[in-house]
Amino acid sequence: MLIILLGPPGAGKGTQAEKIIQKFSLVYISTGDILRKAVKEGSALGRKAREYMDQGQLVPDNLVVEIVRGRLMEPDCANGALLDGFPRTVDQAVFLEQALPDIDKKVDRVLLIEVDENELIERLTGRRVCGDCGANYHVKYKSPKVRNVCDQCGGDLYQRDDDTLATVTERLEVYKRQTESLVEFYQERGLLSSINGNQDIDGVFDQISSVLEDL
Ligand code: AP5
Ligand code: MG
Ligand code: ZN
Repeated sequence: MLIILLGPPGAGKGTQAEKIIQKFSLVYISTGDILRKAVKEGSALGRKAREYMDQGQLVPDNLVVEIVRGRLMEPDCANGALLDGFPRTVDQAVFLEQALPDIDKKVDRVLLIEVDENELIERLTGRRVCGDCGANYHVKYKSPKVRNVCDQCGGDLYQRDDDTLATVTERLEVYKRQTESLVEFYQERGLLSSINGNQDIDGVFDQISSVLEDL
């Protein structure tokens, strides 16, 4: 099973991914997480990606596409994967469509998480992330038991560099400009399911579960 999570920054893709991969036993592939790890490690990829990410711009397609191709070919993806944050441009989606048959895969469903814009800004500027395991928190909506400490692994929570108000605003613009056209792309292929993201975390997950259980 290959599932894509689509939706604007702050829609709750990472939050829902944590729950989906557990329930449906999928391998999690988040290009954002992979790129942030590369930045942290200071690798060649990370050095190239950083300037784009800090400005809220997309990293060039050729870099991202190679990451995803390599990851999908690894043996643990044989039973299924969940893509979060990829594809994000029509070129990336076309690449995926052309690459998948060669590795005996196809996209089974695209989940579009839709959330009102004001709410997105509130979610992003209040987000905290675990530096060790990547779990997502929110100062108001999903606060950890102990302030700034991860419930799952005890790691320290931090605020992402691109979660400042200025960068968040730019990321939302970039989504509209470069990513939103994927809604039509996948609608035309009969693969899109819209999910109402303006609900609490469990409500969103219930709706996602019922879509995936029907596949
Ligand atoms: P990426 O890491 O993918 O970021 P994004 O798409 O901007 O999405 P976010 O991770 O910000 O939001 P999310 O939907 O995961 O929300 P979350 O669950 O955390 O990409 C970052 C950058 O990397 C890009 O800008 C780009 O530069 C680069 N990049 C990545 N992929 C690329 C690609 N394919 N091509 C080119 N460049 C690429 O939730 C947000 C907050 O809300 C959390 O605090 C959470 O606790 C809270 N929350 C979640 N759900 C709810 C709810 N239902 N109710 C209340 N609060 C909620
Ligand atoms: Mg995310
Ligand atoms: Zn953690």
